[in-house]
Amino acid sequence: MSTIIAVAGKGGTGKTTVLALLTGYLLKKGKRPILAVDADADANLADALGLSGDRSLSTIGKAREDFFQTKGEVPSGMPKDAYFELKLNEVLIESRDIDLLIMGRPEGVGCYCFINNILRKYLETLGKNYPYVVIDNEAGLEHLSRRTTNDVDCLLIVSDYSLNGLRAAARIRNLAQDLKLNVKRFYLIINNAPSVLSEQFLHELGKLDIEVAGCVPEDTLVPQYDIEKKALLVLPEDDPAVVSMEKIARKILI
Ligand SMILES: Nc1ncnc2c1ncn2[C@@H]1O[C@H](COP(=O)(O)OP(=O)(O)O)[C@@H](O)[C@H]1O
Ligand SMILES: [Mg+2]
Repeated sequence: MSTIIAVAGKGGTGKTTVLALLTGYLLKKGKRPILAVDADADANLADALGLSGDRSLSTIGKAREDFFQTKGEVPSGMPKDAYFELKLNEVLIESRDIDLLIMGRPEGVGCYCFINNILRKYLETLGKNYPYVVIDNEAGLEHLSRRTTNDVDCLLIVSDYSLNGLRAAARIRNLAQDLKLNVKRFYLIINNAPSVLSEQFLHELGKLDIEVAGCVPEDTLVPQYDIEKKALLVLPEDDPAVVSMEKIARKILI
């Protein structure tokens, strides 16, 4: 059974950063191979994991769109679903420790049920090959709500150090509950946090009823690596963001 960990939070709060730091922790603990799924339309997980290189990366959205445009015409003698699965296999970006699937643009107008059903089964089967599946999401939880991604063991909601961020985090948790997503555990992570949280912030935090997994401090190297498109997996071991993720991971990985 694989453990599925997903991040959510409004744009720019540090979802991709948190997920990449957690992936780095898992690799350090020998939990490989990892399947990473970038389900954010602003896909940048490949960069954070050092998997983009110079190539242009294919996405599931593109494969789905191509398949949809051809009206499901497939080479003769091949079942439609087998052909689409073949196309999905071509999208998987493989590396030594991490394989990456980029969901890409959301679907256009039309009925994608047939394709999404194949995609769901494909992801379910694929996921079984990995002890850990990590998923970068967008605030609207689109992929989770369409059930194209699996049930989630751990949903990490990332907030910045602001009351607005906390309110957004609460909305995301409520959305996940309203959508009746199968999330086993919710955690909140405060990113870009100061070393001491203010009384007022802690008071508001207490009202949320989401377990706090921990804080990631503002880090000097993280934005620098981001600009240089350097993988966050190679941050020094004593980097404050890496150290904070170790603490968080020990708390959430039970
Ligand atoms: N703890 C941190 N310290 C400093 N910069 C950070 C931190 N977390 C994220 N950033 C920077 O903030 C920006 C947004 O982070 P990102 O993880 O891409 O957010 P999201 O995926 O939620 O849109 C990036 O430039 C990233 O380098
Ligand atoms: Mg992101």
